[in-house]
Amino acid sequence: MVPAAGRGERLGPGAPKALRELGGVPLLVHAVRALARSRAVGLVVVAAPPEGVAEVVTLLGSHGLEGKDVRVVPGGATRQESVRLGLAAIPAEVGIVLVHDAARPLVPVEVVDAVAAAVRAGAEAVVPAVPLADTVKRVEPQAAGAPEPVLDTPDRSTLRAVQTPQGFRRDVLARVHADALAEEADGGLPPVTDDAGLVERYGGRVVVVPGHEEAFKVTRPLDLVLAEAVLARRRA
Ligand code: CTP
Ligand code: MG
Repeated sequence: MVPAAGRGERLGPGAPKALRELGGVPLLVHAVRALARSRAVGLVVVAAPPEGVAEVVTLLGSHGLEGKDVRVVPGGATRQESVRLGLAAIPAEVGIVLVHDAARPLVPVEVVDAVAAAVRAGAEAVVPAVPLADTVKRVEPQAAGAPEPVLDTPDRSTLRAVQTPQGFRRDVLARVHADALAEEADGGLPPVTDDAGLVERYGGRVVVVPGHEEAFKVTRPLDLVLAEAVLARRRA
């Protein structure tokens, strides 16, 4: 399933991020094609911007994905809600679900295959990730611009930057999303930024497999510059 309902505020003004173009093709189309390339994927459910469902249906229909079963549902106000809504549209007999950000258009098929294979091999939750290049410091946040006191420096060799697709046993993913919804109704914890985070929160076991530098997320304008360069290199 592909959460694609975000507005892309950090990318700046313009269309919702999933519909912004890379090499003349919307990010969402790249992301759906990247998944569809894997033999492990039989159905793609997209959570579209709620006001853009019809547009996304037309878009996916016009980009040569006819051979694949692609369904579109309206997404929600948070990524977590969009995933929950997408999950509800997946037929009951599907036992493994990969969740892949529309904002990661260039993920290589090898990563998709590796995540699916790890779930098939018995893991309940699998995330692709890469080692960090930068040293990371934990700080006490201050008002914008004010110097932030450093609390500590985690050992970089134990840190990973996580990507998508994240793979799950379907029952586990559905259960943790239901747990999160129930806790939210109680005025509980803030939404998480990835699905594996919910599995961790509600007591499941998550494992990491190698990700890929080209599976980076398009978040800020510079990421789009890099994505254009990667695409040009692939086409050369
Ligand atoms: N997403 C979603 N529904 C939301 C928010 C995010 O489906 N309500 C999706 C985005 O479309 C994206 C993925 O979750 O594919 C990762 O989120 P992010 O990179 O944060 O995208 P945006 O929320 O669109 O960007 P920003 O946070 O800069 O507004
Ligand atoms: Mg966001």
